[in-house]
Amino acid sequence: MCGIVGYIGKKEAYPILIHGLKKLEYRGYDSAGVALFSDMIRVYKHKGKVADLEKYIDGKETKSMLGIGHTRWATHGVPNDVNAHPHTTEHGDIVLVHNGIIENYVTLKLFLQKRGHVFSSETDTEVLAHLIEEVRKSGENDFSSVVQMALQKVTGAYAIAVLSLHDPDMLVVAKKGSPLVVGVGEKEFYVASDPYPLAEYTKQVIYLEDGEIAVLFRDGHIEMKTDTREPKIPYIHTLDIELETLEKSGFEHFMQKEIHEQPRAVCDSLRGRLYSVEDMILNLGGIQNIEEKLLIANHYTFLGCGTSWHAGLIGKKIFEDLLRIPSRAEYASEFRYGNPIIGENEIFFGISQSGETADTLAAIQRAKEGGGTVLGICNVVGSSIARAAHAGLYTHAGPEIGVASTKAFTTQVVTMTLLGLYIGQKKKTISDDHIKKIMRGLSDIPEKIEKILIADEYIKNIAKKYKDAKNALYLGRGYGFPVALEGALKMKEISYIHAEGYPAAEMKHGPIALVDEFMPVVIIALEGPSYEKIMSNAEEIRARKGRIIAVVSEGDTRFRNIAEDCIEIPKTEDLLSPLLSVIPLQLFAYHIAVLRGCDVDRPRNLAKSVTVE
Ligand code: G6P
Repeated sequence: MCGIVGYIGKKEAYPILIHGLKKLEYRGYDSAGVALFSDMIRVYKHKGKVADLEKYIDGKETKSMLGIGHTRWATHGVPNDVNAHPHTTEHGDIVLVHNGIIENYVTLKLFLQKRGHVFSSETDTEVLAHLIEEVRKSGENDFSSVVQMALQKVTGAYAIAVLSLHDPDMLVVAKKGSPLVVGVGEKEFYVASDPYPLAEYTKQVIYLEDGEIAVLFRDGHIEMKTDTREPKIPYIHTLDIELETLEKSGFEHFMQKEIHEQPRAVCDSLRGRLYSVEDMILNLGGIQNIEEKLLIANHYTFLGCGTSWHAGLIGKKIFEDLLRIPSRAEYASEFRYGNPIIGENEIFFGISQSGETADTLAAIQRAKEGGGTVLGICNVVGSSIARAAHAGLYTHAGPEIGVASTKAFTTQVVTMTLLGLYIGQKKKTISDDHIKKIMRGLSDIPEKIEKILIADEYIKNIAKKYKDAKNALYLGRGYGFPVALEGALKMKEISYIHAEGYPAAEMKHGPIALVDEFMPVVIIALEGPSYEKIMSNAEEIRARKGRIIAVVSEGDTRFRNIAEDCIEIPKTEDLLSPLLSVIPLQLFAYHIAVLRGCDVDRPRNLAKSVTVE
């Protein structure tokens, strides 16, 4: 939620900031703004997307080699020009951008108002600018110490970039709970909420840890301090991001591109890990330091939010099927504030595309505090969850920019399947035949996804029939149920059609009352253990005139008589079926949203990386 950028060096800052904000727009697009420091600090901010800001700035003075920028997902205060970042004091000498939430801002604001500060916005962020100014009055001359002292009075999460009118040669950045990356160039620094905007300028990056502050100087040197104000030598990581992965590459939307990238993403996720199917060799480097614990665990818990939670539901089923060990999938937001019983030999999986979701991060901290061992299943390398976990497996989906998650989901499922197989093989809970079957099945998945993607146009034509629906039901059983949830989520997120995912049999306990001739009902009806049962559920829907769209196995003939539309997908192992059945649902939601004229990559009110709870 919210993206921040910064630049200090010898180049023009404005185009770099705008470019960075565009790359971070998936984090929020309620308003955007920049502050440019030359002879003075000029602040330009505007409601709406970065493109609106650009239009607003067109023709205005932008000359500067030091600046900060922000794209907002509104938390405190409606999206308007005043609440847009950067924020400043009434004297305009401290200007900052912020990602996160200052939880004690009301108390701080009252205190500052009593000290004569006048506020202009409704945001929590503005408090920070005034607080820094107030601390500066105490006589401390070093600006970074002033900022750090001010931050010590703050409860909540922040990643900030601060300019001080009295310190024209420095950019101060700090973080706690929200992500912040510094890119190191030739006598210049770039700042961003994630590494993607930095990738085309530099591969050398520094990930700030919680409580740390860094002062980036115009002459190219950097001073870092830890949360206890000790000097720290920055550790420089090398980024491994291919630039074309950050572009739409001829697709109309990032989401469309990412759906079509799934064969490649799944291959990348399997690469080196599904080492030899014939010899049944699996390689999972990231788990080495907790391998023993993974093997003796008597409970597995999958934690995540949104799509990642849906992947966790599948993980739970895979683990129970392959290992016969009790497993659960919990919403991270519920787990962190619940009263969870954490077993001594319990393993927690923190599933997150971004690796920055505040609730998932807090949930895994909670698990750690309770004595649990945590394995991160993240896509973004070096992300907070990846670093907070005891061990981790990256999903290798490549950058996912579209707000609605697609390839992250399939690669999360692939990663958990590999993990389940690996543990099952070591613990001998799965026969060799079964292992080989699943391994073979996994290696065939990319090709099978490719085959489904060929039906894109066919699915688009189906979408045309249902684009004006007000509601939709998604039904599945077994492995089809989490897929139904995910299909419904995709539909809600990007097309704004109200959609519910349900276990097919549960439908009789309520949702069936909604079914009439206007209700599209998407049914995952693959060959497998629950095929006959789901057929009966489909009949029940048809008897109430519901319009059935069925995702069926290749060659299925029986559903043709019940469903208005059938989408065939290749056959695979039941346990691997979500990797295929989710694809038509992603395409269906995508086409409906496009046909309805929705902004697919930037759906209203949503943000890709939810760094507030
Ligand atoms: C947001 C995104 C979803 C995502 C969820 C969890 O709601 O819009 O697509 O599934 O966050 O994100 P994570 O990065 O933790 O997987």
